[in-house]
Amino acid sequence: MLAFLVAVSALWLNSALGQNTTSCQAVTQHLSDPPYENYFYSDCNSDTQAVVTSPLPDSNLSIIGPRLVIAWPAGNSGICTFFQPQNGPNGSLAIALVNSTLGSPLGSVYRPSRGSKYPFVGVQGVISFNSSATLTIPILGSVRTIRDFTEGPSLLQPVIQDAINVTQTNGTGATLSRLWLDNVTTTSFTIVPYQNPESNITIDARNKSISFGAGFYAFSASFNYPQLTQLPPSQVLNSASRNLTQQQFGQVTSLSFLSYSEKLLAGAWRFLTYFGRDSMISALLLEPVLSQGNGSATEAVIGAVLERINRTDGSVCHEETIGDYATYLNLQNNMTSTAPGFTYPMIDTDYYLPVLMAQYFNSSPDRIGPLLSQRAGSVDPQNRNLTYANLTIINAEKILNITAPFTLNQTAANLIHLKPDQIVGQWRDSTYGLGGGRVPFDVNTALVPAALRAIAQLARTPGVYPNKTRMNTTSWATLADARAQIWEENTLRFFETNITASTARSRLQDFVKTATYYHGPANESSLPSSGNVTTYSIALQGYNNLSSVNVLHSDTGFRLFFVNVTASTDEAAAQETRFINATANSIMRPFPAGLLTPQSMVVANPALSGSEVLISNFTNSAYHGTVVWSFQLAMMAKGLERQLGRCNRNVSSQSPSPAPAWCDIPSVYNNVLRAYNSLWDSIEANSAQLQGEVWSWTYSNSTGFVTTPLGALPPPPGVSAGTESDVRQLWSLTFLAVKRDRSLTLT
Ligand SMILES: *[C@@H]1O[C@H](CO)[C@@H](O)[C@H](O)[C@H]1NC(C)=O
Ligand SMILES: *[C@@H]1O[C@H](CO)[C@@H](O)[C@H](O)[C@H]1NC(C)=O
Ligand SMILES: *[C@@H]1O[C@H](CO)[C@@H](O)[C@H](O)[C@H]1NC(C)=O
Ligand SMILES: *[C@@H]1O[C@H](CO)[C@@H](O)[C@H](O)[C@H]1NC(C)=O
Ligand SMILES: *[C@@H]1O[C@H](CO)[C@@H](O)[C@H](O)[C@H]1NC(C)=O
Ligand SMILES: *[C@@H]1O[C@H](CO)[C@@H](O)[C@H](O)[C@H]1NC(C)=O
Ligand SMILES: *[C@@H]1O[C@H](CO)[C@@H](O)[C@H](O)[C@H]1NC(C)=O
Ligand SMILES: *[C@@H]1O[C@H](CO)[C@@H](O)[C@H](O)[C@H]1NC(C)=O
Ligand SMILES: *[C@@H]1O[C@H](CO)[C@@H](O)[C@H](O)[C@H]1NC(C)=O
Ligand SMILES: *[C@@H]1O[C@H](CO)[C@@H](O)[C@H](O)[C@H]1NC(C)=O
Ligand SMILES: *[C@@H]1O[C@H](CO)[C@@H](O)[C@H](O)[C@H]1NC(C)=O
Ligand SMILES: *[C@@H]1O[C@H](CO)[C@@H](O)[C@H](O)[C@H]1NC(C)=O
Repeated sequence: MLAFLVAVSALWLNSALGQNTTSCQAVTQHLSDPPYENYFYSDCNSDTQAVVTSPLPDSNLSIIGPRLVIAWPAGNSGICTFFQPQNGPNGSLAIALVNSTLGSPLGSVYRPSRGSKYPFVGVQGVISFNSSATLTIPILGSVRTIRDFTEGPSLLQPVIQDAINVTQTNGTGATLSRLWLDNVTTTSFTIVPYQNPESNITIDARNKSISFGAGFYAFSASFNYPQLTQLPPSQVLNSASRNLTQQQFGQVTSLSFLSYSEKLLAGAWRFLTYFGRDSMISALLLEPVLSQGNGSATEAVIGAVLERINRTDGSVCHEETIGDYATYLNLQNNMTSTAPGFTYPMIDTDYYLPVLMAQYFNSSPDRIGPLLSQRAGSVDPQNRNLTYANLTIINAEKILNITAPFTLNQTAANLIHLKPDQIVGQWRDSTYGLGGGRVPFDVNTALVPAALRAIAQLARTPGVYPNKTRMNTTSWATLADARAQIWEENTLRFFETNITASTARSRLQDFVKTATYYHGPANESSLPSSGNVTTYSIALQGYNNLSSVNVLHSDTGFRLFFVNVTASTDEAAAQETRFINATANSIMRPFPAGLLTPQSMVVANPALSGSEVLISNFTNSAYHGTVVWSFQLAMMAKGLERQLGRCNRNVSSQSPSPAPAWCDIPSVYNNVLRAYNSLWDSIEANSAQLQGEVWSWTYSNSTGFVTTPLGALPPPPGVSAGTESDVRQLWSLTFLAVKRDRSLTLT
């Protein structure tokens, strides 16, 4: 009898929730990252990520509460629902998705919609509650709106929240629905008791909350909005790398989830949309495995970047604002429009484009004509009437214009600065990411010279820069190379800092005594016994009038990855030797003397700075603090490999430049080789984390270092909320292509 009831209720739910029984083949993935459970579901109708958060016994309950997030790449859209126990204390309510006739655990929703050409699509499933619960806050619409609430000071906009309707569904269920500000799209979330005849849902119409008893509930999450076209693994990878689909099934599935013919997405769930820097760094690191040609992943990245260039000044777009949030922002500016927005706050992103295009056209010269003749404007209407060739040249012009002053006069004032109205400008884009610095290391010492070299190469490549423009593009071939040399050889010195070994030791002791999050060994024996310790500031002109932000960092990897310095003077060669030796040392020294923790290389370490303000800002809970970023590991590993490759032209190097001077200094060469191997040992030891965006650690004398999700740590002082890591980040999938070079193993 019970079985009969179950079958009937499943049939009823199929029609109630609008399941399409002739649904197409689904690709699913379950990724557990307690307290987060992530479920990915893609089929021919839509692509969805569901994230269930349920507190663990040791969770900090002021940060972690029961929550269901549904996130869709289309329009960067989603639903977020927060739950509370109805009677029990905080932490007593546990929620989970369970397998059912509706899905394992997710199934497809497909329902034609009246009055819209787009059907309702999304997911359904069954969610269990271990006790009676209240759905306290629903947010329906854009993932950006959800992030404003979860990452900001809990902001809710009346114009969005007031539009949510709560209605009773089929007697015992409830539906939350909201018409977007576009007046066309509706997001809806339905929850109905499932195999749970005693249960009934109570709606509190006043504050739009709904309450219900313990047990199983069927839910359905859907919206009617144009969808993206996902690239299956066979279209993301080049033909030589298709065997990765079997060997690294999970990673390739994640890469495919983030890859669409329109663009590649930066991360899941918080960044399911275009980000210029993320997609270009990923394409550069993934080059050996990524598909090329018409309709390929590489052209999806380049095309998405070109489409979004600011035609007036050649800037590459950092982030797009689309879907409901675009209409919302337009409304804030008193405009009734659904037009997308494109933001240009960054100063680093412009430089990745010529580097990526030079790399691509070098390996696919037959694509120069077809790609550059494409017409822009389908994404940013401002760019109608322009071709990709037009936009490519405007970006190169910008770079040549902005790098000219330093070429004439090598002063700090002529280095590239953050935009005056911005406190961020490169990948460390959080309030304390650069410690307030205005002149970042990566942009000036690595990205600018690399972009100039790439422009020179593109100028020598037939068909890239038309010479019948107002610019003399033929001259760029030599001009950009000459400029690159000046930037390569004259920027490191602004960032180089030398302190005596005894000063370094005493600062290290102070750090261990005063840091709030680390009281372990100082590891000072890894510092030299005498002489100097050389480091490079992360940026110049920091907060609190610091002339330079002397935080030890991993941005040295940008220079190793992007720049092949062919020193024109002995002085420049000596500088390069000091730099690579100091970089290798910083990677090998254990934290806090260096960057290496058991959780792998941290991206910043203030321990040698001697600055209280830097020590309190760069913590293990800061987004760009003493935490580990997967893409930084990949870039550093590949950068060291590229530089080592230059020493032995017979091994893996394809670089045309001669071997640098340090290759012939055994102590330095061996240091670099040892750093490469230490880094790879630690990458391999942390393989479980590598596909995530960022992770942290905690330390106690009894446990030592313990890997800890960043989102589980309380925010550092002055930051309103902690930062939850994305379980999958595009540029953290680059270990599909970045592999340990066994020929560099220490013997
Ligand atoms: C309620 O149930 C009826 C009959 O089973 C179904 O046609 C209808 O679509 C359901 N309503 C909702 C809002 O799910
Ligand atoms: C089910 O989904 C398929 C694929 O999108 C679609 O072609 C078909 O019309 C849908 N069927 C129904 C009954 O909605
Ligand atoms: C749910 O179904 C999936 C797919 O069939 C399966 O991998 C998983 O183990 C199931 N979960 C449980 C708890 O049975
Ligand atoms: C919400 O309720 C109002 C008033 O009944 C109705 O006009 C509107 O269409 C409803 N919106 C949605 C998305 O259901
Ligand atoms: C949506 O409809 C409202 C009410 O009619 C109107 O004020 C608003 O301008 C419309 N918004 C858009 C984007 O068309
Ligand atoms: C559920 O609760 C509502 C409101 O209290 C009531 O009208 C309805 O009859 C109840 N349904 C069942 C099946 O108990
Ligand atoms: C995958 O295919 C490539 C190219 O065909 C080959 O070089 C590589 O060895 C293969 N990898 C494995 C593990 O089979
Ligand atoms: C594009 O660049 C111009 C010139 O710098 C600037 O005025 C304009 O605001 C930029 N467009 C956008 C959308 O930011
Ligand atoms: C929008 O209009 C309101 C009311 O007229 C005004 O107060 C506000 O400054 C305007 N906002 C912008 C961005 O122009
Ligand atoms: C593009 O060209 C058409 C026809 O020449 C013109 O009407 C339109 O205004 C142009 N659009 C832009 C964005 O310049
Ligand atoms: C775009 O390129 C074409 C062909 O080189 C050229 O004639 C045209 O002037 C360019 N437009 C702009 C705005 O640069
Ligand atoms: C570069 O500078 C030239 C000369 O001042 C100017 O005409 C051109 O518009 C600038 N281009 C860009 C993209 O900034």
